[in-house]
Amino acid sequence: MAKKIASARISEKSSKLLQELNNSLPFDKVLYREDIEGSRAHAYMLAEQGIISKEDYEKIESGLKEILSEIESGVFKLEGDDEDIHMAIEGRLTEKVGDAGKRLHTARSRNDQVALDFRLYVQNNTKVIAELILENIKTLVKVAEENVETMLPGMTHLQHAQPINFGYHMMAYASMFKRDYERFMSSYGRNNYSPIGCAALAGTPHNISRQITSDKLGFNAPTLNCLDTVSDRDFALEILFNISTMMMHMSRLSEELILWSAAEFKWVTLSDRHATGSSIMPQKKNPDIPELLRGKTGRVNGNLVALLTVMKGLPLAYNKDMQEDKEGVFDSVHTATLSLQVLEEMIADMTVNKDTMEAACMVGHLSATDLADYLVKEQGLPFRDAYHITGNAVNLAESKGLDISELSLKDLQSIDERIGEGAVALLDNRASMNARQSEGGTATVRTLEQVESVKVWLENKV
Ligand code: ARG
Repeated sequence: MAKKIASARISEKSSKLLQELNNSLPFDKVLYREDIEGSRAHAYMLAEQGIISKEDYEKIESGLKEILSEIESGVFKLEGDDEDIHMAIEGRLTEKVGDAGKRLHTARSRNDQVALDFRLYVQNNTKVIAELILENIKTLVKVAEENVETMLPGMTHLQHAQPINFGYHMMAYASMFKRDYERFMSSYGRNNYSPIGCAALAGTPHNISRQITSDKLGFNAPTLNCLDTVSDRDFALEILFNISTMMMHMSRLSEELILWSAAEFKWVTLSDRHATGSSIMPQKKNPDIPELLRGKTGRVNGNLVALLTVMKGLPLAYNKDMQEDKEGVFDSVHTATLSLQVLEEMIADMTVNKDTMEAACMVGHLSATDLADYLVKEQGLPFRDAYHITGNAVNLAESKGLDISELSLKDLQSIDERIGEGAVALLDNRASMNARQSEGGTATVRTLEQVESVKVWLENKV
């Protein structure tokens, strides 16, 4: 039977169904390390402040350390009918060290305890995810550097638009992941404040020091207002949002990898380590991995919306609804960590089919804009006139079954005699790509600058 160590007012045994609905131990057992770490810091502070004796503190400290190894070795299984991880550990501590264990909960409530445990979990995993993002940035930068001359058709509306290089395309994703990294780290800084000592909602009459627990746990300082602290789940929403945004970027990259590995493109080949077969079609090699990464983005978005919805109508302070905060965060953290590791491996192992990419640049008159730009820059035509003349050149190329870059000077002058010799060289795709030298542009020299800039950032970021 559930030991009701925290229900002085309730005499009857809880119904089985109530326990099933109410107990969070089946999922919040994930927090056992944070719970023990938080309790050790709290007990240390209670002793420092003379609220409990040194002897009691020592018993609590060694009892909690033993419980940690009992959990990790499987001796103490977190599967009883305790209501949650906090009660399970406090109950076990009291079994081991008697009255000292019963003094641990002085000047704290499960409301600040869960706020602490969960915040520690979020902070720790924010760093884990941020590190994995860095690994992906490094790999993207490496692939980018190897491909600053690999041309492919840049697209808008999934239609061939202008020639770019594959390094430039990879640096677009490196830039997204760099922002993601910064977003996780800025959340880390904003949320690095200690909730413990807020007690139920209003603080405590005991002479505690929240500064001591905050220092011991590695926070910047105690939080400002206890009513806010036990009610606040912004830190959890931030990690959910940060994961969703990062996974949205990963999903777009995955979508491109799926397209690029289709027969119609064949721009990349995923390694056999990252492809799967079909149970009926022996010839198939399917991009299940990027498909799963794309699919998992839906699930992390669901977790974000679920917690936003749980929180939106709650009066201050703690309400049991808030117990619903955890499973979605655990799930999103697990999904993000696994997905980032898989993505990094897949990008590092894929083959870039340079020739197929370059051949694709001969479809779609990618350098057409350069002819219009030439007429504006060299012949002083208004852009709109230049645009129409170029349209006629495209039509001529189409009628001859050629790409605009394959038209001769004679062909071009038959459209408009103001088109001079200089235009022919500009229509070459590589020239077109390298002409885009404005800041952040695709020219190989500019792409290399972007690679360099991210490398410098990787070395110097805090
Ligand atoms: N298991 C609870 C949760 O996850 C812990 C806090 C319970 N506090 C309370 N006053 N019932 O939110």
